[in-house]
Amino acid sequence: MTTIQVGDQTFQLYLSETDISARVKALAEILNTDYQGKNPLFIGILNGVFMFIADLFKHLTIDAELGFVRLSSYQGMQSSGDLHQKMGLDKDLANRDVIVVDDIIDTGNTLSKFVADLQRNYPTARIKVLTLLSKPSARKVAFEADYVGFEIPNVFVVGYGLDYDECGRQWPAIYQLYSNSE
Ligand code: IMP
Ligand code: MG
Repeated sequence: MTTIQVGDQTFQLYLSETDISARVKALAEILNTDYQGKNPLFIGILNGVFMFIADLFKHLTIDAELGFVRLSSYQGMQSSGDLHQKMGLDKDLANRDVIVVDDIIDTGNTLSKFVADLQRNYPTARIKVLTLLSKPSARKVAFEADYVGFEIPNVFVVGYGLDYDECGRQWPAIYQLYSNSE
């Protein structure tokens, strides 16, 4: 079995580079259809989204703009539930088609607050949410994305942009916390 070491933890392969790239391409094709002629603004949530959004953009054939915000509510393997915006958005969202893009939805705290704030500030924006990964069983607030790459169980994952205490983002595949029982 392929395992990697990140910090003090061992992780095992969960989604291969091939699985991820096929799904990312399929998501881009859906967006190419849904957003034809709409020039959407993608807003990526840093840092975890950087690899996903770069790969996604390579498959977009529509006109699209890109912006980023930096949010964080996570320390170690736990969501603190407390949202910090560390880098703001310098775009006007009025009357725009907006696609908020994240790496993973876990408790739902981050995106539910961020999207509600965005909609309050820009009532005329048409906001949708895209996430590469979603852990539906980990939700603490009801929140679903409009576009989901993979639904996964409540396991901690790293790689493809996702970190464990800021490490492990560089791996081109996604790994889950190693468990001896499997
Ligand atoms: P939420 O607010 O609990 O939905 O968490 C959202 C953020 O927590 C994500 O954007 C990630 O940055 C981080 N996160 C949640 N689950 C994981 C995981 O399994 N691995 C790495 N980061 C995670
Ligand atoms: Mg994130």
